[in-house]
Amino acid sequence: MKISIFGLGYVGVVSAGCLTSCGHEVVGVDVNEVKVDLMNKGQSPIVEKDLPELLARAKEKALLKATIKVREAVHATDMSLICVGTPSRANGSLNTNYIERVCEQIGSAIKEKEAGHVLVFRSTMLPGTNKEIIIPRLEKASGKIEGEGFHVAFNPEFLREATAVYDFNNPPKTVVGCNNEEAADKVLALYEGLPGPMIKTTLEVAEMVKYVDNNFHALKITFANEVGHICKNLGLDSHAVIDIFLQDTKLNISSYYLKPGFAFGGSCLPKDLRAMTYLAKMLDLETPLLNSLILSNNLQILMTIKKIISFNKRRIGIAGFSFKAGTDDLRESPLVEVIETLIGKGYDLKLYDKNVSLARLVGANKEYINDRIPHISSLMVDSLDDLLSDREVIIIGNKDEEFKRILKDCRDDQIVYDLVRMGECDEGKDNYQGICW
Ligand SMILES: NC(=O)c1ccc[n+]([C@@H]2O[C@H](COP(=O)([O-])OP(=O)(O)OC[C@H]3O[C@@H](n4cnc5c(N)ncnc54)[C@H](O)[C@@H]3O)[C@@H](O)[C@H]2O)c1
Repeated sequence: MKISIFGLGYVGVVSAGCLTSCGHEVVGVDVNEVKVDLMNKGQSPIVEKDLPELLARAKEKALLKATIKVREAVHATDMSLICVGTPSRANGSLNTNYIERVCEQIGSAIKEKEAGHVLVFRSTMLPGTNKEIIIPRLEKASGKIEGEGFHVAFNPEFLREATAVYDFNNPPKTVVGCNNEEAADKVLALYEGLPGPMIKTTLEVAEMVKYVDNNFHALKITFANEVGHICKNLGLDSHAVIDIFLQDTKLNISSYYLKPGFAFGGSCLPKDLRAMTYLAKMLDLETPLLNSLILSNNLQILMTIKKIISFNKRRIGIAGFSFKAGTDDLRESPLVEVIETLIGKGYDLKLYDKNVSLARLVGANKEYINDRIPHISSLMVDSLDDLLSDREVIIIGNKDEEFKRILKDCRDDQIVYDLVRMGECDEGKDNYQGICW
């Protein structure tokens, strides 16, 4: 395929080197003439392992050239990869000036091009940027409509500098966001033969994925560093601790605990988090990340209460109020916090949880409930149907299989507020709302 690459920085040059090594013909475009000259000599404008060899080979095989002329590059190619910078402004917002400029330039070039063109944006940008900024700019400059005269795709780059060529050839995944199936397939064809899943999605999801990835990486580093300081101050080898932590690929390095939903609770997580942050305080250590977890969790509970209040209904039913399905443990169930607040505000509540029978509650669990919501038994009902019969709002509080029928069996005037993404519940009905989806 003939490809023009806009922006000869880390992403653009690595893409150029690697795509030519797969046999594609590349025209690099940059406003910086020094970079363009170097690329035309088959030399790398950046320091990156294996790249000089790739570029020299590409030059030898006449698969690589570079220019500052946008029109020439767009007309000579079928597809453009856009890899210009998207730096932060002083206030942290995303600076899209370079992207906007490039859209105007490519848009003008497309105006005079008869054949269709695919624009693949690789620069990191916030969800909605393609739809709200890029496509309108391109349509204005080209006088053509996206999806007819040209296609836009978003294809985030996951490479790490210093191992960028290796990462390009061994991606963890390849993601293409696009409004058009055929155009998305064209983009994926660029990476044919590379390992990892090939994922087609919407522009906005693809844009968001890149931020979620990088934010999670930052979170991992910070978490490990805070744990490291606590370990060091206790005279423990943090690497010995983390090496064992990493061997747990069931609960630690896994998809567990990583689905958006309601606040965490139960008899362990809040207690152990408090003990660890208290320990850090005793050691005179700052652990802002660990400290923030309880705060953020409390906010999740508060936001849920506010949301329920915003429905402006008085008769509320809660389906599942132990802290997760399959247990009767109510200790530090965040749902108990919600129930307490709603009782305090005079709401008419009904609670249903087949695992919670007050007669069976013993020990710490019973004490906890007697202490927090002593008259809970008067609010409990024996069946889901009882809840469905007269509640104006039904809150799905845990993932008990039985709750899958709630949306099917409720009336259209009953609001279903789902805290756990109950599978079958989340499709199609206007009266359904998820907590964070
Ligand atoms: N560097 C990384 O490791 C990495 C990894 C993944 C994603 N990204 C993202 O990729 C994008 C590019 O990052 P980078 O580090 O390669 O940037 P960079 O700053 O190294 O390079 C950007 C290049 O774009 C050129 N440019 C600016 N305006 C232009 C225009 N109108 N026409 C042609 N060229 C133009 C600049 O001269 C520069 O050479 C950013 O959005 C970044 O967030 C970077």
